[in-house]
Amino acid sequence: MKGDDLSPPVSLDPEIRFSATMAEACRAPQAVLLTGATGFLGAYLLKELLHQTQARVHCLVRAQDGNAALARIREGMAFYRIWDETLAERIVPVIGDLASPRLGLGEEGFKALGRGMDALYHAGAQVNAVYPYARLKAANVSGTEEMIRLASLGPAKPLHFVSTLAVYFGDEYQGREVAEGEAPHSAQGLHGGYKQSKWVAEGLIREARQRGLSATIHRPGRIMGDSGSGIMTRHGDLLTNLLQGCLHLGLYPRVETRINFAPIDYVSRAMVYLSLHPPARGKDFHLHNPVSIHWNELWEVIASLGYSVKGVDYAQWRECIQGQAGNSPERRLFTILHHLLRSPIQLFAEKPDFSVSMTAQQLAGSGIECPPVDHRLMEVYLNYLLEQGYIPAPEGGALKAPLPTGEGLG
Ligand SMILES: NC(=O)c1ccc[n+]([C@@H]2O[C@H](COP(=O)([O-])OP(=O)(O)OC[C@H]3O[C@@H](n4cnc5c(N)ncnc54)[C@H](OP(=O)(O)O)[C@@H]3O)[C@@H](O)[C@H]2O)c1
Repeated sequence: MKGDDLSPPVSLDPEIRFSATMAEACRAPQAVLLTGATGFLGAYLLKELLHQTQARVHCLVRAQDGNAALARIREGMAFYRIWDETLAERIVPVIGDLASPRLGLGEEGFKALGRGMDALYHAGAQVNAVYPYARLKAANVSGTEEMIRLASLGPAKPLHFVSTLAVYFGDEYQGREVAEGEAPHSAQGLHGGYKQSKWVAEGLIREARQRGLSATIHRPGRIMGDSGSGIMTRHGDLLTNLLQGCLHLGLYPRVETRINFAPIDYVSRAMVYLSLHPPARGKDFHLHNPVSIHWNELWEVIASLGYSVKGVDYAQWRECIQGQAGNSPERRLFTILHHLLRSPIQLFAEKPDFSVSMTAQQLAGSGIECPPVDHRLMEVYLNYLLEQGYIPAPEGGALKAPLPTGEGLG
């Protein structure tokens, strides 16, 4: 890794110790803590925790007070059409900040929270493609250390940490298969503050494991919309922006790469199931789609849904994007895309092959399967983007009405 971003080396506070033996609480937790519930994955994890357990789900949220925190959670889940008023009484807001010492709860509040929880789910992070490591360290690295500290208080409790497959985007792992159990020890060539911060945070988790913490690491790849409703993250993501941009321009770049993503409903259902499945405890999982699609083939699928979009050379396509961003600054999409393409986000860069054998083995018999990236899934997503007015209507063919929420899997 270039520069002094990660120096001095980050290591876990020596005062954090795990003395108690793991309780058998994890099959039926009564109280759990979730971070990131106002975000995309967090909202779906909250839904799954409410459905797959009977636990009260304490949610660490940045807000003025409990009412405001609950309103933020409700608004997010309502956006994704997964809010269920009948389950709301099991949501307990906790006002706090990952970037603050003791999560901003004060020593006593922090200890009380730690003592009262049966399991911790850490999905919260500052997810930003352009900020440098130094700007993300407080929330993503120190925040993870505070979650580990929390796990060390009171009865032993498992920590379920949401990492990312991007921790393997350094030089060491390119062009070969990476197994779930292979720790990403090398950060050589790992560019971008976000990936670096998640890489360092994972290191802290592994250090805590060596001290006795039962920590499960879940590494999603690119997470896309709900396979039933098509609803995507409300913060926008590069692939969606790219699809939109290409459909508006009528041009896509011809690139030799495969595209992989997993629907949010699969990722969240699998994570919560694995967290409650004792043989999965303390392992690493790749929430990666076993069936990806070649980028150019993806456009054949889109063409079959009625769009006429021409493939052009990447340099020519990028010039068009740049031209649109420059000529029509009111077209925010192209400006965003232009910036994102310059960021170290690496949509088109070579990536490792990610093994999912451990994940498949532990999910066997659960009925939870990742839908393949195919015609059906793309139809659901394009329908949603069309319904929202994000993409033009197809000239030929007809997109069908989206499926109601919750009908995506199984
Ligand atoms: N989306 C993907 O494709 C993807 C892929 C791989 C891994 N992941 C991982 O999945 C997790 C969730 O990602 P996401 O896509 O759901 O991101 P997101 O929608 O941006 O949600 C991030 C969540 O973290 C919270 N957060 C950020 N900084 C915080 C702080 N200082 N204190 C308390 N909460 C804070 C946010 O709260 P506010 O609402 O207050 O900002 C929000 O609830 C992250 O750990 C990310 O690294 C995501």
